[in-house]
Amino acid sequence: MCGIAGYIGKDCNAKSVLIDILTKLEYRGYDSAGIVVCEVFDSQKTVTYKKSVGELDNLKSKLNLKRGACEFSLGVAHTRWATHGKPSVKNAHPHKSGSIYVAHNGIIENYEKLRVFLEKRGFKFNSDTDSEAIAHLLNFYYKQTNDFEKAFGKTLRRLQGAFAVVAVNFDNPGEILAGKLGSPLILGIGKNSHYIASDATAISQHTSRVVYVDDFEMLRIVAGAYQITNFKNAKRINKRVETLQKEFADSGKGKFDTYMQKEIYEQPEALTNSLRGRIDIKTGTVVLGGLKDVERELKDAKSIAFVACGTSMYGAMSAKHLFEKYAGVHTDIYSASELACGNEKMQKGDIAIFISQSGETADTLQALKKIKKQGALCLGVVNSVGSSIARLTHAGVYNHAGPEISVASTKAFTSQVAVLALIALKMAELKGNGKVCKALLKDLIQLPEILKKEIKKADNISKEIAKLLHKKQSVYFTGRGYTTPLAFEGALKMKEISYIHAEGYSLGEMKHGPIALVEKGFPVVAVMPEGELYDKAKSNLQELKSRGASIFAIGNVGMKDLKELSNTYYLCAKTHQDLQALLYAPVLQLLAMHTANFKKLNVDKPRNLAKSVTVE
Ligand code: M6R
Repeated sequence: MCGIAGYIGKDCNAKSVLIDILTKLEYRGYDSAGIVVCEVFDSQKTVTYKKSVGELDNLKSKLNLKRGACEFSLGVAHTRWATHGKPSVKNAHPHKSGSIYVAHNGIIENYEKLRVFLEKRGFKFNSDTDSEAIAHLLNFYYKQTNDFEKAFGKTLRRLQGAFAVVAVNFDNPGEILAGKLGSPLILGIGKNSHYIASDATAISQHTSRVVYVDDFEMLRIVAGAYQITNFKNAKRINKRVETLQKEFADSGKGKFDTYMQKEIYEQPEALTNSLRGRIDIKTGTVVLGGLKDVERELKDAKSIAFVACGTSMYGAMSAKHLFEKYAGVHTDIYSASELACGNEKMQKGDIAIFISQSGETADTLQALKKIKKQGALCLGVVNSVGSSIARLTHAGVYNHAGPEISVASTKAFTSQVAVLALIALKMAELKGNGKVCKALLKDLIQLPEILKKEIKKADNISKEIAKLLHKKQSVYFTGRGYTTPLAFEGALKMKEISYIHAEGYSLGEMKHGPIALVEKGFPVVAVMPEGELYDKAKSNLQELKSRGASIFAIGNVGMKDLKELSNTYYLCAKTHQDLQALLYAPVLQLLAMHTANFKKLNVDKPRNLAKSVTVE
């Protein structure tokens, strides 16, 4: 959601670098884009300022991207996902006030007050955005102080809400200023250049040396040097320069048509990476370096709260039973957006696990800040290394699933379930129940290989079903017990990329209302659990079948009688019952993908959605 980019230096041309960064940030979702660049040659400056609606190509077509002669160049660029004001050229960033240009991610909560304040002082607003107020406010203070850095500090102090702001002043085009509170911002350090972006993936091609900017910090970058200051108290800050690991690089779509397809097929590898070095098969124990310092707390824990959004929340739901069964702890699952503004209280001694692929989801971040303040131990299960949630939690485990570009989360989900399984088993071990986990660990380590074959197999059947489904308006996804979270996840995946109305239910819940919609041909996808739940789920399926539902049942090779209970059925390989979700999930992902493909939709960039949801 919104991508921010900045460049200053001599190594490259700002226009090309900024477009490259925006291209890498495309996956976050956007509806318009803009750029402003100043190229300096022989003390002459050339300013290019362009904005456009829709795809980044529309902006590119307005630019001459061939490098002209220039000694150095600098600029700011942005991809916008509309919050205040519809997608349009006037609302696209950067916003201009005099010679000052500003790009902003986040939401300025006091923008109406600021607008009144600024309009009274003669500033004219050209857009409907909250962000334009920042440009005028900065200009207002710049006029007062004649000091761009000072003016920037004053501006940031006056903003309420969440922001990452990057600003240039082409009155004197030698510096870039940036600051943040709540929204992500990263500084990349090159040879004779500096880069700014919303996430590390976007600049990893240019440099591997980065500084993660924290809340209340602002940067001043001039050619070849930078300074970091706390904008609340104006104190200078020295920060560690970190080295990006290879996993940040987006290797493109390769032989696949879409990122989603690639990421579904990457799951065995992602799972291998998530498990690598974390299972000692000889001793049957789990090794989680990131939790070493909190083992005592995990040992003593009586309950765990999981906090996440969307697919990550369903990841938590899918692993919940492992914590209850193996670690013997009570679990609660919280939707982060609800927790962030609810009355729930946690305290010292409580443990909360925050799960996020991007590590930047504003709702999860807000909930984390709140719960941390209340004194609970906050742990993270995060895919993006160095992201805000990873840095704010007390300890945690990285997924190492690699960059996930498609808006629809796939490999992050299976990786989250696997990492949570490891944490549950580690807790069981710490509590003295390690023996019961051995069988599960053995099966877990074999899963990537099984998954590889499964995904290929599942591809054909899910395409067959998608051919029928893509003409439907509504579909139910159902499960029972530990497969119910998969029903939620399957429905989310279906609606977000195919725009077909989809709802997830427990099979047991159907008779309490949802079955009213079922008539001849109504599609139902049933994800079948094992054990005693299987018999119950079969009866529920029978109830649906007798009302004419068109059932696609997903089970494992032990469930032969699914044939009679469904119109079409698919039997996955069998693994430990408590891990079966990891084999079922790709069938649902492929089903959603093929359905969207039949409808000729862009599966990687569904409408209205963003990869990284950085507004609350
Ligand atoms: O980056 P996060 O895991 O925190 O993101 C949470 C949700 O926004 C995300 O899972 C979303 O639901 C996906 N688009 C689902 O595919």
